[in-house]
Amino acid sequence: MSLIEKAVERLEGLPKQPDRAGAGAHSSSLLVPGVEAGIDSNMAHSGSSGSESRRIDIDLVRLRAAGFITPDTPGSLTAEEFRVLKRPLLANVMGPAAPIRNANLIMVTSALPGEGKSFTAVNLAMSIAMELDRTVLLVDADVARPSLPRVLGLPEQKGLMDVLQDKSLKLSDVLLRSNIDKLTILTAGTQDAHATELLASEVMGRLLNEMARRYPDRVIIFDSPPLLMTTEARVLATRLGQIVFVVRAEQTPQSAVKEALATIETCPVKLMVLNQTRNVEHVAYGYEYGYGY
Ligand SMILES: Nc1ncnc2c1ncn2[C@@H]1O[C@H](COP(=O)(O)OP(=O)(O)O)[C@@H](O)[C@H]1O
Ligand SMILES: [Mg+2]
Repeated sequence: MSLIEKAVERLEGLPKQPDRAGAGAHSSSLLVPGVEAGIDSNMAHSGSSGSESRRIDIDLVRLRAAGFITPDTPGSLTAEEFRVLKRPLLANVMGPAAPIRNANLIMVTSALPGEGKSFTAVNLAMSIAMELDRTVLLVDADVARPSLPRVLGLPEQKGLMDVLQDKSLKLSDVLLRSNIDKLTILTAGTQDAHATELLASEVMGRLLNEMARRYPDRVIIFDSPPLLMTTEARVLATRLGQIVFVVRAEQTPQSAVKEALATIETCPVKLMVLNQTRNVEHVAYGYEYGYGY
């Protein structure tokens, strides 16, 4: 039995406890900010063109109040949990022992909407951006239901959908730099009726290869659509190197978890996150890690 199957079984055995208010909002002591100052010029530029990305200010006070990791709360429980989650993912990005294709492209997905994909993607991006030697690109790939503008307070602007449709637009033209030096953001962009189809397109495949090649040492996190709502998310899964599969504890039916996991069966690296477990004493996140089956 694979680790993931065991994790699915464990879901069944979780104790039922009353709902926990403010789950995840564990800001604790204020420690030294973990973000190194400096400009990440490679991510901001497309190489030869030298065009500047726009810069936005994320409201870190608001983000922290909503339970997210921010650079000034590196000691919070949520920060600790994401430290555990990011380690195996980062080890694979540079793992010389078992090279994984596009290991720096990480998909955050789940079976259904509302399970905490965006919560996980943003926190994972924050956590990795706090590493001394890592830069992160956070991509809003849940194009039918983008949540990064709301969560991070982003302006409406061109993004992924626009790059996929407008050949004259370069990735570097739409990247948003942020007040977290190592965090760059790509919004979903202009809403499009064929948004999810575009995610599975050949042009998206080429863009992903370009991203993986151009920024091999950058971690690129895709806040992705749920696997059971569209087939495009499954195509995306086959193209990204690592998958973080989020399960909302005590809410997602076990059958949905199994069905969704079956759709990503062939993806080599999957890491399962059990979100919003009710055991306040311990962790809001549990995880299992598996290499294939
Ligand atoms: N561990 C958590 N602690 C606190 N709030 C959470 C947690 N996980 C999810 N949420 C909140 O639950 C809601 C749904 O999560 P979200 O990440 O938007 O789901 P999805 O992206 O899968 O649709 C959001 O308001 C999010 O902030
Ligand atoms: Mg979301």
